[in-house]
Amino acid sequence: MSFHPQMPYGEGWHKSERATAEPGPPFAFSAEHRAQLEELCTHYPPERRKSAILAALYLVQAQQGYITGNAMRHVAEVIGCTAADVEDVVTYYVMFFTRPVGTYVLQVCRTLSCALNGAEQVTAALCRHLQVAPNQTTADGMFTVMEFECLGACDRAPVVMVNNEHWHECQRPEDVAGLVDGLRTGGLASLSTCHLVKERT
Ligand code: FES
Repeated sequence: MSFHPQMPYGEGWHKSERATAEPGPPFAFSAEHRAQLEELCTHYPPERRKSAILAALYLVQAQQGYITGNAMRHVAEVIGCTAADVEDVVTYYVMFFTRPVGTYVLQVCRTLSCALNGAEQVTAALCRHLQVAPNQTTADGMFTVMEFECLGACDRAPVVMVNNEHWHECQRPEDVAGLVDGLRTGGLASLSTCHLVKERT
């Protein structure tokens, strides 16, 4: 006789409520990205390959643009961990996308300093210029507008970040058309990264 209660395992009782990513198309690293990942893994002790999950996910995003369930499973196989380990990282960090995004992802900080300095108006101007709502991508697949939390440049609010990498500070609603049109015609080369010398007027 057992004193353990009967638990209905396998009947939906023991499952996470968390929504999982769409499986998406089949995914495997290109030879180049796999080689890059293996090189990065040499920076960690062999028993700590899991430390390279972040780097692996950046490579997935570079290759496919966003991270699917199949990509997470592939990363888990390559790293030697569980798909749940990979999913934990994907869902914790905001720089990973689990659905398709535009060529240029424009993320407007909405945290306090930026909010007080007009971030909402910057987002509205971007959305108006691109004719999308926040979190939407333009019909031509070029731009996605998102709201983001603090980007660490609060003294130069409001801040817009392009593709997880390029900060544009002290942005005003009237600046965003130039930012977008520059990307459209000149790509990332049109960006001047930080607008550190720009003064608010
Ligand atoms: S509040 Fe926007 S960068 Fe910190």
